[in-house]
Amino acid sequence: MTAIPIRKLNDGTALPAIGYGTPSVDAKRAEELFGLALDAGYRLIDTAQAYGNEDVVGRAVNRSSVPREEIRVQTKVPGRDHGYVETLKSFERSRAALDLDYVDIYLIHWPNPGYDKYVETWRAMIELRDKGLVRSIGVCNFTYAFIERLERETGVLPALNQVERHPLFPNADQVRFDTARGIATESWSPLGRGHAFIGEPEIERAAAAHGVTPGQVVLRWQVQGGSVPIPFSTRPERIVQNLDVFGFALTREEMAAISGLERGRIWGQDPSETNYL
Ligand SMILES: NC(=O)c1ccc[n+]([C@@H]2O[C@H](COP(=O)([O-])OP(=O)(O)OC[C@H]3O[C@@H](n4cnc5c(N)ncnc54)[C@H](OP(=O)(O)O)[C@@H]3O)[C@@H](O)[C@H]2O)c1
Repeated sequence: MTAIPIRKLNDGTALPAIGYGTPSVDAKRAEELFGLALDAGYRLIDTAQAYGNEDVVGRAVNRSSVPREEIRVQTKVPGRDHGYVETLKSFERSRAALDLDYVDIYLIHWPNPGYDKYVETWRAMIELRDKGLVRSIGVCNFTYAFIERLERETGVLPALNQVERHPLFPNADQVRFDTARGIATESWSPLGRGHAFIGEPEIERAAAAHGVTPGQVVLRWQVQGGSVPIPFSTRPERIVQNLDVFGFALTREEMAAISGLERGRIWGQDPSETNYL
């Protein structure tokens, strides 16, 4: 089994350098996949109330032979539950669905600036952390302005920020900002949903040079570039292969060539303008 390096978060807790993403898939298949991911060595599992699969993730964790304390489960509060009281209630719904005593990492799914309730949501998350119901709190899709406002109004910085990041959208300024503030960046859609690298000669060349697959090159580019990818796959061989990115290093030229593929966000979801309920 691949040994996964650990990163230390600004709250002193540990974050595996790669995790497993879990968008909506058929429940029966999902439980099998999540169990398989744990068996393969993943110790960070990403879910969200919006994915409708917290119960399946919880079952996979509770049924796994991997000790609970070795697994970091992260879930997210949806936009419809923003607000102080709403977030506390939403968290209880997530915890009940997960059937866990505590949640390792609790994230704001989107800032939803049009509703302007993310600071109140953050206050509730600080309380959940202080009560020990959540080990780490963080955000997703937060730009500098949103993070600076959280710090200004509550004095508490997120432990991590999960953002869109892949070769077509390296999001380099955000990674630099997060790193400078001691915030870990996680990459969502780290493989660009499997499309971001198909046929790109820079990636194909690096894959041939290191004897790995293009997917592994992209995930290595992620970790070497300072972020924590959470790739999703339904294929057992890729679930295993995607973990195996710590035994080789890309050259400075290869890193730059892959970052140079930048074209923009795949789905056009600019967090400064997007509001999801
Ligand atoms: N916070 C947010 O707003 C947000 C938004 C989007 C996603 N997320 C999280 O990020 C996770 C990952 O993102 P994602 O699922 O959108 O995209 P992704 O992980 O970039 O890509 C998944 C796709 O890539 C394919 N794939 C996986 N490994 C591969 C490999 N080695 N070579 C070639 N293709 C490969 C998979 O197909 P196969 O199944 O056929 O392998 C799947 O279709 C999600 O599961 C979710 O947990 C968060």
